[in-house]
Amino acid sequence: MKAAVYRTYGPPEVVTCEDIPAPVLRPEDSKRMLIRVHAASMNPFDVLYRSGFLPIRFDQGWFRPKAPVLGIDVAGTVLAAGPEVTRFKVGDAVYGGCFGAHAEVVRAGEGALAPLPQGLSYEEAAALPTVALTALQGLRDLAGLRPGQTVLVNGAAGGVGHMAVQIAKALGAEVTAVCSGPNLGWVQALGADHVIDYTRDDFTRAGKRYDVIYDAVGKRAYLESTRALKPNGVIVLENPLKVRSQLLQLGWSALRGDNRAKMHLANANANDLAAISNLCETGQLRPVIDKVYPLDHTSDAHRHVERGHTKGKVVIGVQA
Ligand SMILES: NC(=O)c1ccc[n+]([C@@H]2O[C@H](COP(=O)([O-])OP(=O)(O)OC[C@H]3O[C@@H](n4cnc5c(N)ncnc54)[C@H](OP(=O)(O)O)[C@@H]3O)[C@@H](O)[C@H]2O)c1
Repeated sequence: MKAAVYRTYGPPEVVTCEDIPAPVLRPEDSKRMLIRVHAASMNPFDVLYRSGFLPIRFDQGWFRPKAPVLGIDVAGTVLAAGPEVTRFKVGDAVYGGCFGAHAEVVRAGEGALAPLPQGLSYEEAAALPTVALTALQGLRDLAGLRPGQTVLVNGAAGGVGHMAVQIAKALGAEVTAVCSGPNLGWVQALGADHVIDYTRDDFTRAGKRYDVIYDAVGKRAYLESTRALKPNGVIVLENPLKVRSQLLQLGWSALRGDNRAKMHLANANANDLAAISNLCETGQLRPVIDKVYPLDHTSDAHRHVERGHTKGKVVIGVQA
């Protein structure tokens, strides 16, 4: 099969399209399936792995990556199913989370997949899993966002952020979205009640306080963001490592009894994917696709995401 492969850590050029053996179902894969990949998506996670971000090397290999194929979001059809798979059969259209989706075939666990949402293309469905699950679990579970509450989404034009704007609206909140000027219009069209251009205005100094701050981008220090947070509010940090002093600030604040910061690692599970499918099928959630790259241009997709200004999602179109 064809796959986008990286054998060494480095810049986007280390990703090349190669013919490699397709994965198979092993005896321990009784609850897994082989998926023929129609589309996959790019995440900053893939960029971190490819570039050899130090904390990742502890798990992925110190000198060279153990698993040469990236990609954690997939949409495709079931090619084969292990003997204990009960929810799907060969030929079913599915989407969800896995490792190694930048390839023509990937092995994925039944529990991390769901039927393709009605009315969505494979490319749209592949754009969803990581970012939609992150926003859903962050807003609903960590922040406990309730109807009528106010939420500020920082990084609202990115993959996670544009999901967060729509999911926060679906949860009944009043949404303020922060992005750069060129993105204000389409982010407002997603349902944001208010928009702030971060290149002109600083939400932390605007004098307004929110019940929830959802920081999808990690460009503001915790102690800056909390200037805009109500005393009993919650701030969800999706990337707590980006600001250098962030962990120190969080530790210091926690010592002083400030436990308003919440962090998590999103997980793919069937119930939450079903909730996301439901939001899509009822017209409350739709991914915005910035650009689709063919599999043999995956290195260009890495370059695109690495620039840090993706509008919605970058998708890899794998097989028709
Ligand atoms: N915790 C988890 O489980 C989890 C899961 C997924 C992702 N993440 C993390 O969440 C972060 C966001 O992921 P993503 O997929 O949304 O990334 P992304 O799509 O690459 O986000 C790029 C967006 O960031 C915006 N941005 C850049 N600088 C900004 C600034 N100073 N202020 C506000 N917005 C700014 C850009 O908007 P403009 O073009 O308008 O500047 C762009 O739309 C990443 O760090 C990722 O690692 C965490």
